[in-house]
Order: sequence, then C-alpha cells, then structure tokens
Amino acid sequence: MKFFADTADTAAIRELAETGLLDGVTTNPSLVMKSGRDFKEVVRDICAMVEGPVSAETVALDAETMIAEGRELARLGDNVAIKVPLTLDGLKACKTLTGEGRMVNVTLCFSANQALLAAKAGATFISPFVGRLDDINLDGMELISDIRQIYDNYGFETQILAASIRTVNHVSEAAKIGADVATMPPEVIKKLAAHPLTDKGLDAFLKDWEKTGQKIL
Ligand code: G3P
Repeated sequence: MKFFADTADTAAIRELAETGLLDGVTTNPSLVMKSGRDFKEVVRDICAMVEGPVSAETVALDAETMIAEGRELARLGDNVAIKVPLTLDGLKACKTLTGEGRMVNVTLCFSANQALLAAKAGATFISPFVGRLDDINLDGMELISDIRQIYDNYGFETQILAASIRTVNHVSEAAKIGADVATMPPEVIKKLAAHPLTDKGLDAFLKDWEKTGQKIL
C-alpha cells in the first residue's frame, strides 16, 4: 500500500519525506487555503520535494475550463496528478487529460457507481472519501470494498486511493481490503508507528543496557 500525505504543509511533507515512507501527496482547495500560500508556488515546492504523484485540484465546473486548468497545473511538475471532481464534466476532463498521458485523480467519490465511471474514464486514481461517509452514518470501508470488487471483476487499473482517512484503524482496514493508496493527514501517518508496548519495551531494554555499562559506538 502506498502512503500519501494529505496536506499542503511543506514542513510536514519534508519531515515525512525524510523517513522514506512517503509515496506522494494530495492537496485540495481547503488544504491550500489552510496553508495560506500561493497555490501554484506550493504545488511547485511539493513536486520538488517528493518523487511520487502530487495531486493538485482544478476548480472549474465545466470540462473545457477544467482541462485548461489541468494542463496549466501539469506544468508545475512532472509528477502532478490533476484532480477533477466526480461530475460528468469531471469525467469528460479525465478522459481527455489521461488521453494526453497525464495522471488524473478523480475526487469526491461517494458511491461504487461513481468509481465505476471514473475507471471507465481512465482515471489513474479514484478517491473515495471514507471519513465523510462515516460522518453521516454510512460505511466508508464498505465503499472501498465494493470498489475493490468491481475493479477486480473487470481488471480496471485505476488505483483506489482511500481518502478522508481520519484514524489509524481506517488505514489498516483499507489495507486489508486492498486499497492501493491511503492518503492521510501527517499526524495519522506518524501515529501508525506508535504503540504503548513498544515504548514500554524500549524503556526496559535501555534501562538494562545502561546496567551493562557497555557502548556500541
Ligand atoms: O483527501 C480528501 C481529504 O482531504 C478530505 O478529508 O477529513 O476533510 O474529509 P476530510
């Protein structure tokens, strides 16, 4: 499973990139707003920081303008994945942009049928929003599972990018189902490594090591 950081915070991205565990980044207009930075400038910076796909979202509602925005965003880095919304215009833009050899991430997916359409439009990534379905008492993971089954039935190569991930349990559940990617806030990525028994065990080992009076270096 690939890990993407869902943020436009370059300091957090740099820190995660240094671990060698970061496979890409996703942004959206809300995250850009939160960063307080110029959109194009921040995308350019992120693209230079990570080798993997960096999703940058279009904001037009009609296909023609969306395509023009997508082409403009693709100029910001070789690893830009153009993000378009799951609307008929978004799907049309997806078909054109992937036809030009560009990566496209179809976002705001909330149903299996929407994911089926995105795959038919040749999407590189489909982004089902797990947390936002859970928010309204629906089952986000059930959607990931349905999409996995449908894509496997037909051999679609569109990658399932589990988005709106809020908890570490979301990550392991999505991994069990076979989502290709999980995009999550940096703090969730960091929490994946944490376990109280790891901390307790390490503490005990270090105390005993100190008693030996030895050094490795
Ligand atoms: O990847 C989509 C994500 O940014 C949305 O997350 O927590 O706002 O639903 P959230």
